[in-house]
Amino acid sequence: MTVYEMQQEILRLKKENDICILAHAYQGQEILDVADYVGDSYGLSVQASKDPHGTVLMCGVRFMAETCKVLSPEKKVILSHPEAGCPMADQMDKEDIEAILPNYPDHAVVCYVNTTSRLKTICDVCVTSSSAVKIIRAMEQKDILFIPDQNLAQYVAEQVPEKNIKFLRGGCPRHALMTKRDVERAKAAHPEALLLVHPECRPEVVQAADYVGSTTGIMKFARESEAKEFIIGTETSILEHLQFELPEKRFHYLSKDLMCPNMKMTTLADVYSCVKGTGGEIIELEQEIIDGARRCIDEMIRLGG
Ligand code: 13P
Ligand code: SF4
Repeated sequence: MTVYEMQQEILRLKKENDICILAHAYQGQEILDVADYVGDSYGLSVQASKDPHGTVLMCGVRFMAETCKVLSPEKKVILSHPEAGCPMADQMDKEDIEAILPNYPDHAVVCYVNTTSRLKTICDVCVTSSSAVKIIRAMEQKDILFIPDQNLAQYVAEQVPEKNIKFLRGGCPRHALMTKRDVERAKAAHPEALLLVHPECRPEVVQAADYVGSTTGIMKFARESEAKEFIIGTETSILEHLQFELPEKRFHYLSKDLMCPNMKMTTLADVYSCVKGTGGEIIELEQEIIDGARRCIDEMIRLGG
């Protein structure tokens, strides 16, 4: 079967089986082509909360499929590849945080959406890269414990200086690989290019950037900018999608190491197996977890707008 034939079969089967395909922007172009919606973590959560299909296939990583299930417990939610997790989401669990909470009396606990649903049950609100600044600014509480991404926490703290934001050591092992040296090297090689980075990058990288935003925020900026050349500081797929969509502009990697193996686990053949009903993993969550995490995610959607 060719790629085109497989895509046609996927499109036919998803319609026949009442399946909506949600794809994170880090997925390959061949998967984005068959998706009903492509977006960043925030966009995917909002889309999941209002989608009318009986089954949702999440092409991304586990915490995204869990968020989908929490928002639509009556639906069948399938994760495109059972092993596609997010190492950041596995860095802290509920018990770790419960144990340190007495050290942060009167602090609101804000978690990045890249966390398990179980951990979300003890957090006040969750945020995504595109909504974190807006949500934290809108919160009533001044004292905040932000988990698990220390880089995103520092970025938000700089943008919202009126809040007292504390954080723990954690974050994305891929984005953390990029350093000031990568920035200097890329800028020296492409002096005309604007630097666009994800807030999961280290502060030294974020501070050197011309734009800081989510995966789709970076894409929107590149699309709308008058500039012709860009250095992209996030997962390599974003550069590939941008170069495909905007062939008249030039895109350069900040670092070629920035490939997320978990996001890359899902292949078009996995998507095909999922729509046939033979692949992926059906997400099941206990009612207690759904209820607890729902409160945290609903608060994100309420404050995020
Ligand atoms: P976005 O919210 O920007 O899609 O980020 C998700 C993610 O995992 C980035 O590494
Ligand atoms: Fe998780 Fe980093 Fe991969 Fe995003 S890029 S899914 S934060 S490991």
